[in-house]
Amino acid sequence: MDNRPIGFFDSGLGGLTSIPYLKKQLPEERIIYFGDTARTPYGSKAESTIRTFSREISDFLVKNDVKMIVIACNTVTSICLDELRLRHPQVPIVGIIQPAVDEICSFENETNVGVIGTKVTVSSETYSKGIGACRKDIKVFEKACPAFVPLIEEGIIDNEIMDLTIDYYLKDFIRDENIDTLVLGCTHYPLIEKRITRKYPKLKIINPSELVVRKIESILRKSDQLALNSDFNSIFYASDLSENFVNMINTIFDKTDVRVEFKSFDLDVRA
Ligand code: DGL
Repeated sequence: MDNRPIGFFDSGLGGLTSIPYLKKQLPEERIIYFGDTARTPYGSKAESTIRTFSREISDFLVKNDVKMIVIACNTVTSICLDELRLRHPQVPIVGIIQPAVDEICSFENETNVGVIGTKVTVSSETYSKGIGACRKDIKVFEKACPAFVPLIEEGIIDNEIMDLTIDYYLKDFIRDENIDTLVLGCTHYPLIEKRITRKYPKLKIINPSELVVRKIESILRKSDQLALNSDFNSIFYASDLSENFVNMINTIFDKTDVRVEFKSFDLDVRA
C-alpha cells in the first residue's frame, strides 16, 4: 500500500479528462495535478520549449513526493517521455500514448486508423511508429488539428464554431482515407468527443485518457502501491486559474473534496 498521490500533468485542462475514469476505477487514489494553463497550448511550440516546461513540472511533482507521474499530454509524451524517465529514475512515469497503441494492436481486424493531435504529436509519428511496430496490416493516418485546443481552453465546445472546426479538419480526412477508427490523440479532445460522434456516428473512437487508467492500475497493483484510506486531499494546480479550469474541476468533484491552487514558474525558456 502507498497512500502518496499520483502526479498528473498537462499543458492545461486536457489532462483532466482522465480523472473521472481514475475516480471510477481507483476511487482510493489521490492526485496532484498540474495544468500549465498560462502557457497552453504546447502543441505548436518548439520542442526545446516543451522540454523545458516538462522538466520543470516533473521536478515540481517529484518534490511533492508523488508515487507515479502520468504525462496526461500526448504532446509531452511524444517528445519527452524517455528524457523524463532518465531524469526521475526513482518514479514510474506513464505516458498517455502506449496504452492506446496497445489497444489498437489488439484489434482483430484490419482497420484504417486516423490519429488526430497537435502539430508536435503528429510530426513525431509516435502513434504510427508504435502501431507499425506491432501491426503491419493496420493503416495509420495522422492529422494535426491545432485550432481545437485554444477553442476548448476557451470553453468553445458545444456550438457551431466547434462544428465548423470539426468539419474543417475531419470531413475530407475521414472520407479520403476511409477512416473507421479515430484516436483522440490529444487529451483535450475527449471534451469534443460527443460533437465528433454526432457528425460521424459510425466512427469507433479510441480515447487514450480512459485507456491510461488501466495501465496506472496494473503498475500500482504489481508494485503493491495502490492507496487505501488516504487522508490526502487531491490538489489541482494551474499556472493560470482560468474560469474553465476551476469549473471543470467543480464538475468532476464535490467542491469540498479537493483544493485548487495557483502555481507558476519563473523561468528562462531558453535554459
Ligand atoms: N492536451 C495536450 C495533448 O494531449 C496538449 C495540447 C496543447 O497544449 O497543444 O497533446
